[in-house]
Amino acid sequence: MDQKVIDAARAAFPVGGAALTLGAILHEGECHPEPLAALPLAMANRHGLIAGATGTGKTKSLQLLAEQFSNAGVPVFLADLKGDLSGISAPGEMNAKVEQRAKDTGFAWKGAGCPVEYLSLTGARGAQLRATVSSFGPLLLAKVLGLNDTQTSVLTLVFKFCDDQKLPLIDFNDLRAVLQFLASDEGKAVLEQYGGMSKSTVGVLLREMVELEAQGAGAFLGEPEFELEDLLQIEDDGRGVVSVLALQDVQDKPALFSTFMMWMLAGLYHELPEVGDIDKPKLVFFFDEAHLLFDGASKAFLQQVEQVVRLIRSKGVGVYFVTQNPKDVPADILGQLGNRVQHALRAFTPDDEKALRAAARTFPKTPFYEVEAILTSLGIGEAFVTVLAPNGSPTPPFAVRMIPPAARMGPLADQELQTRLSASEQVKEYAVAIDRESAREMLAARMAGDAGGRGGDEREIAADENAAPPALPQDRAAQAGGMLEAAATLAGALFGSRLVRDMARTATREVARGAMGKLVGAPPRRRTTRRRTTSGAAAAGKLLKGLFG
Ligand SMILES: Nc1ncnc2c1ncn2[C@@H]1O[C@H](COP(=O)(O)OP(=O)(O)OP(=O)(O)O)[C@@H](O)[C@H]1O
Ligand SMILES: [Mg+2]
Repeated sequence: MDQKVIDAARAAFPVGGAALTLGAILHEGECHPEPLAALPLAMANRHGLIAGATGTGKTKSLQLLAEQFSNAGVPVFLADLKGDLSGISAPGEMNAKVEQRAKDTGFAWKGAGCPVEYLSLTGARGAQLRATVSSFGPLLLAKVLGLNDTQTSVLTLVFKFCDDQKLPLIDFNDLRAVLQFLASDEGKAVLEQYGGMSKSTVGVLLREMVELEAQGAGAFLGEPEFELEDLLQIEDDGRGVVSVLALQDVQDKPALFSTFMMWMLAGLYHELPEVGDIDKPKLVFFFDEAHLLFDGASKAFLQQVEQVVRLIRSKGVGVYFVTQNPKDVPADILGQLGNRVQHALRAFTPDDEKALRAAARTFPKTPFYEVEAILTSLGIGEAFVTVLAPNGSPTPPFAVRMIPPAARMGPLADQELQTRLSASEQVKEYAVAIDRESAREMLAARMAGDAGGRGGDEREIAADENAAPPALPQDRAAQAGGMLEAAATLAGALFGSRLVRDMARTATREVARGAMGKLVGAPPRRRTTRRRTTSGAAAAGKLLKGLFG
């Protein structure tokens, strides 16, 4: 291989610093095993893109990165759309192809599985993932319901009304009850008070919601809510736990699972502390089939995604979008993705060609490759790669033959998966839904009170000043919330009960919200990475010590 190419690659991928191996440099049909292209761990929170036509190796690239993050002690979240990532918990097996690829890339391959927790929106293929309606928020919910901008703003007002009225929106029953109330004659005064809410739009929301509910949304909206800290687990041997969100059973509801991932990301942003320069990320998040997140999204939604992606880097979280074409990702977001693994693009139609030219233009300059030509001629499991060097500047792009993943390339058999699920504490923790008093019951009670006692006086619900309890000063509210939470965590640790913790967490949120009277959540809970084997008793001991000295 041309010595100039090798020298440039050595400059771009210096040996020494902690980095994830990508593969061997390719140039003019030759593959050179030294130096190996690598992604510096310290730059891994500068986000990334894995793109390429179907079947070109995107998912395997995602897998080999995820495995190495886990090995380096970085927890990983990944969305498994086709079920072909579930095998990441089992060691891969040597075969002729793997052997050849290992030889080409000069990589000492060894089969190994990762520590994995499985999550699922239906509860069938992993721990049941749940969020409350209120923490989901109007923007994400609007995306799931496929609302337009006007309808979205009405939904936002509905949330505001519930917030003002201290009506906890936990599950779909709550939201339905509120919408039904607003669409009824009793709700008229509220609609007038919250200018901008029309009865017909509320009716549309109600219909959309009932439709989504009919598709089984009941399972994933409610309590116990998934605790995002569960994504930050570290195994006792120091490896990061890989959380695999199994999605084959909701493949036909792209708006749903893509927004759920956004909910997680926004929540992580909210809960994690700022970090300065890091030697490795706190968490890496892989967004497979990312175009589904952006398809038909409202402007407000896109702005929120853009903002979360931009800001979450400073919390040490790296986000990697995986999609067929870079143009699937809005330009504002694409511009923030520092690490790029571009697999082959096809150029069959004039549209393809346009997209190819656009993709080619986004790479840093290189004297060694004809970019458009290389992008269409890469083989399976090969990619055109540029990463951020340790000094933060993009390396020149190189064509790379990727190393083989260490774990199994393909799904677990159903029996293997079931064995793992039945051994998982996390699956047990989230198995049973809780239904406690929330907006539905409260509205029903208030309306019953109205009808009985005071001859249908609607003002109790309509005029929020009268209904709201006296506001606590903000610091006292926070204090009260903090104490509640501490007490509940203690109780939870002692009795292993998630319910107690959940109830108090919501109480915390409500107190904080009441104090500020706005659509804001509770202050971030500063939690650190927890060890998977931390026993309830040990945690309780620590807490007692912390509380009472
Ligand atoms: N790094 C690699 N090591 C070994 N084999 C690979 C690698 N990358 C790709 N392959 C081979 O190519 C096949 C397709 O790869 P993969 O499933 O990652 O493609 P994809 O781009 O995700 O496709 P789709 O768009 O259909 O999801 C794999 O099943 C595997 O045989
Ligand atoms: Mg794939």
